[in-house]
Amino acid sequence: MEGKREGKFFVFEGLDGSGTTTQVNLLSEYLEDMGYSVLVVEEPGGTDLGREVRELLLEDRGVDITGTAELFLYEVSRAQLVREKLIPELDRGRIVISDRFALSSVAYQGYGRGVPIADVKRLNAVAVNGVKPDLTFFLDIDLKAMGTRTLGKEPDRIEKESEDFYLKVRRGYLKEVANRAGHTVINGSLSKGEIHEMVLSQVCEELAELNG
Ligand SMILES: Nc1ncnc2c1ncn2[C@@H]1O[C@H](COP(=O)(O)OP(=O)(O)OP(=O)(O)O)[C@@H](O)[C@H]1O
Ligand SMILES: [Mg+2]
Repeated sequence: MEGKREGKFFVFEGLDGSGTTTQVNLLSEYLEDMGYSVLVVEEPGGTDLGREVRELLLEDRGVDITGTAELFLYEVSRAQLVREKLIPELDRGRIVISDRFALSSVAYQGYGRGVPIADVKRLNAVAVNGVKPDLTFFLDIDLKAMGTRTLGKEPDRIEKESEDFYLKVRRGYLKEVANRAGHTVINGSLSKGEIHEMVLSQVCEELAELNG
């Protein structure tokens, strides 16, 4: 069911190292300073079950995981997050910010791994149960910037993927967000502050609706 919820839900998406966590933190700090109570979550994760699944997904245990199985694991985390946290918090009017959401599965498991996009969207729909971000910010960086940003950081299981994989993920993201209501592409190579300002201008507009 896609009922209108009281709160607001903001999502950051992008390639690894694109700056999603940086922007989630800047936005949540800003909104908290403004007096809002903000819930920050991440995918996979955000719940006890989600954190268990996160370890399975991101720790490289040398276990083979097919694209479809990987998709289901993300959906387990997502289904739990939506029901345990997002629906209750949004229904009581809270602001929720998520570091990645359903679009990540379309980009990574769909375009990246080659799971049919329609299948990814079907499973996403079951997991999200009508919860839809009010605003999604896609922080777009190229592979070169990704390489620089993730340098020195121990790569997780997914980050060990080839350049070709990330090219497909990026193209997928761009295709999915192009001209789509509620979705904004931001040049992720701008400074942290510039990106934050661009995010804020949209968030403030969205929140005026909440207050007004
Ligand atoms: N706009 C920016 N310009 C330059 N460096 C940035 C920018 N945003 C983030 N960084 C830096 O890039 C690195 C990755 O940023 P961050 O952890 O926010 O990205 P992420 O998308 O959350 O990455 P991950 O995939 O590892 O979760 C950090 O060192 C961060 O300080
Ligand atoms: Mg991060």
